[in-house]
Amino acid sequence: MYRVAAIGGDGIGPEILDEGKKVLDAAGEKYGFDIGWTDFDIGAERYLETGVLITEEELKELSGYPAIYFGAIGDDRVKPGILEKGILLKMRFFFDEYVNLRPIRLLQGVQTPLAGKGPEDIDFVVVRENTEDFYVGIGSRFRKTEKKELEVVRDLYSVKFGLDVESDAEEIAYQIGVLSREGCRRVMEYAFDLAGRRQRRVTSVDKANVLSDVYGLWREVFSEVAGRHPGVATEFTFVDAMTMWFVKNPEWFDVVVTPNMFGDIITDLGAMIQGGLGLAPGGNINPKGTSMFEPIHGSAPKYKGLGVANPIATIWAGALLLDHLGEPEAAEGIVRAIEGTIRDGVVTRDLGGAAKTADVGDHIAALVRE
Ligand code: IPM
Ligand code: MN
Repeated sequence: MYRVAAIGGDGIGPEILDEGKKVLDAAGEKYGFDIGWTDFDIGAERYLETGVLITEEELKELSGYPAIYFGAIGDDRVKPGILEKGILLKMRFFFDEYVNLRPIRLLQGVQTPLAGKGPEDIDFVVVRENTEDFYVGIGSRFRKTEKKELEVVRDLYSVKFGLDVESDAEEIAYQIGVLSREGCRRVMEYAFDLAGRRQRRVTSVDKANVLSDVYGLWREVFSEVAGRHPGVATEFTFVDAMTMWFVKNPEWFDVVVTPNMFGDIITDLGAMIQGGLGLAPGGNINPKGTSMFEPIHGSAPKYKGLGVANPIATIWAGALLLDHLGEPEAAEGIVRAIEGTIRDGVVTRDLGGAAKTADVGDHIAALVRE
């Protein structure tokens, strides 16, 4: 019996998570385990009513679970950033989920916009660092009349650019990216372990040619970690070139390890080459703590309650969850069942079908049980 926390969240989140739970329960029947679900009411609705995002007690309670299954958050009535930072990023940081695992795999039967590429060409994993970089939240903005934090900014502007903040700048803003040696090391070790199992290559992403302090450290640590894994081939790429290679030669990649923000950007591109956001799952992993699994897309508020959202990314994220809990066969069974529903044409309209969200979940659950 596995205890799993479920957070539907906002918009289409609850609907797609219901389908995910349905399929994971079916996998439990087939492969011989039970999942004890505990639902948490966390999201925009409660925030709008009470002003509460996520409480310390909830975080403590959630940390007693090996895994959280998460739908999506985001609501048009709330200013961008509040729910994202106050709930999603809060959990990623609180549970120190330092690996954001995003498989980029074109399933059988799915169309990719890349001409001439097929499932054998698009099959790699992005390991995104998930706790540092520009996500650390160090920054500020202010007008020249405000004295707050002026010292830091005077340094930045006057030393570097010869600007006098008080007289020259109407308003300024800054935000700082931070990497630590240990933060780089641990996510890279995870990437190399993964590549070792796949017997191939780790590609490192950075922008060390411009942001040479942070990504200089990233490169240095990558070389050290690579030295401990002599059986795995390695290479460095710049993030701008990486967007080109994802489109031109996706077959080259095996495991890609990337700092947080570049990872955010290139995995949306990855989602497109694997057939769309409706098909892209992710795991936020702390190998020794509470991990969280979610689709990489958002809450699509305009489709809320219509039953048209594609639940496949969430169901696939559920497969990652089971794999993480030590049920790799069940995980593979779910991915095969997803391919089966695509083969059978039981897909939502983003994939050219007419099926409803629940039809897709039902069909995948039935195929899992077979
Ligand atoms: C993602 C999302 C999040 C991120 C947002 C919603 C905070 O875009 O999971 O990729 O930037 O990581
Ligand atoms: Mn993103």
